[in-house]
Amino acid sequence: MRHWGWFAAGMLVGAFTSVRWATKRFHLITPVAVAPMLVHPWRLAYRAPERLVQLLDVAPDHHILEVGCGNSALLKAFAEAVPRGLAVGIDVQWGMLARAQGRAAAAALCRATALRLPFADASFDRVVLIAVLPMIAARAQALQEVRRVLKPSGALLVGEEWLAPEFVPWHVTRQWVEAAGFRLERAERNWLSYALRFTPTATSASAAHFRPK
Ligand SMILES: C[S@@+](CC[C@H](N)C(=O)[O-])C[C@H]1O[C@@H](n2cnc3c(N)ncnc32)[C@H](O)[C@@H]1O
Repeated sequence: MRHWGWFAAGMLVGAFTSVRWATKRFHLITPVAVAPMLVHPWRLAYRAPERLVQLLDVAPDHHILEVGCGNSALLKAFAEAVPRGLAVGIDVQWGMLARAQGRAAAAALCRATALRLPFADASFDRVVLIAVLPMIAARAQALQEVRRVLKPSGALLVGEEWLAPEFVPWHVTRQWVEAAGFRLERAERNWLSYALRFTPTATSASAAHFRPK
């Protein structure tokens, strides 16, 4: 019986490692079938949307954008934090947005890619990317888009979770985001997740001449 236990554990670790490898190798995005796991109470316990709102220092009249909002597991908390402002969630998958509708009624939802955000320059006070950046192959372009729509006085929150197949350590995220013209301001970490708050730097060499078509 004990042998079966080890066998089952080995299979689980093997499956987890394979999914992680394939997700990173082929930049797979979260399937819509996984949406219920995003709103599971265990996930929300360690991801703690209210801590993200605090870390982002959200004001009631802020305009806040969540890129890759999925089924609004976190967008709901962001929308509640801006009663006099605006919360917008974008995602590439219709299926995710369909599941998001009921959860975050106060937020505006839009199907779009992070590579071409359908918003004017400097239109948001806060931008959030949770469990999405490593999935985007052209992440430098996505970050330049984020920088474009973020006000110069704004803040960007980027977070990842250890259990997610696309997970990368915090120093990798920091490197990517700083290379796009941001500076790390605050960080919060626990055993299962982290969230990093960045502000745009005054100038960014890449931002100056980069413009998505
Ligand atoms: C793991 S889910 C995270 C959802 C949400 N941020 C959360 O933490 O609950 C990642 C989401 O990012 C979306 N996504 C992946 N690549 C994207 C892209 N290039 N542009 C916009 N959304 C994207 C996926 O469709 C998926 O819904």
